[in-house]
Amino acid sequence: MIKVAPSILSANFVDLKPDIEVAQSGGADLLHIDVMDGQFVPNLSFGPGMVEAIRPITSMPLDCHLMIENPERFVTQFCQAGADVVGVHVESTPHIYRALEMIKQHGVKAEVALNPGTPISMIHEVLPIVDQVLVMTVNPGFGGQKFISQMLPKIQQLNQLRQTGDNNFAIEVDGGISDQNVASVYKAGADIAVAGSYVFNNEDPVAQIKKLKTRTTE
Ligand code: DX5
Ligand code: ZN
Repeated sequence: MIKVAPSILSANFVDLKPDIEVAQSGGADLLHIDVMDGQFVPNLSFGPGMVEAIRPITSMPLDCHLMIENPERFVTQFCQAGADVVGVHVESTPHIYRALEMIKQHGVKAEVALNPGTPISMIHEVLPIVDQVLVMTVNPGFGGQKFISQMLPKIQQLNQLRQTGDNNFAIEVDGGISDQNVASVYKAGADIAVAGSYVFNNEDPVAQIKKLKTRTTE
């Protein structure tokens, strides 16, 4: 069964707590926090203060997706704020290896993220040191976009790589995930699906989370 990570980018910004509690009670496996700097992506969202504020109100692992230029400037703050996973984009820094090592030094899971146009060859050298790989299935920056199905072979390729190489990473997919495509990403090898609008832009987020999971057991 796939793990589900609801993204608070589509939650109610003036009253996040009920949405977070609903996600947890609905069986969400992680809480996805999208961090945007207005440079790496054309949108602004949250900083480490948000992670610190959420930390005491949930026991879900906090999955922080940094969509910011030179993320090594901020990884320490996110780790200290209580992140359980910190994801950094390979396109966002010339020092991806250093950024990932910094995350691991804090005892936090290190994740490398790939934009839709970025091939797996860009992260080959860091695969042995990462805990997770995030495959973007939309162009990062906004919730509610359409799933890019050409990313399925990329997920399959990563799944094959981890079966042969000296590495042991989970595969997370992010963007446009719904009950229409979750089975296909799971079949391709994804372990974790991020879902924002599908979960929160609905009257019954609990049912939405359950539907995503059930689709991967049918
Ligand atoms: C996009 C973010 C996603 C976003 C997903 O840049 O990384 O996590 O919240 O939203 P949906 O599920 O609506 O595509
Ligand atoms: Zn994300």
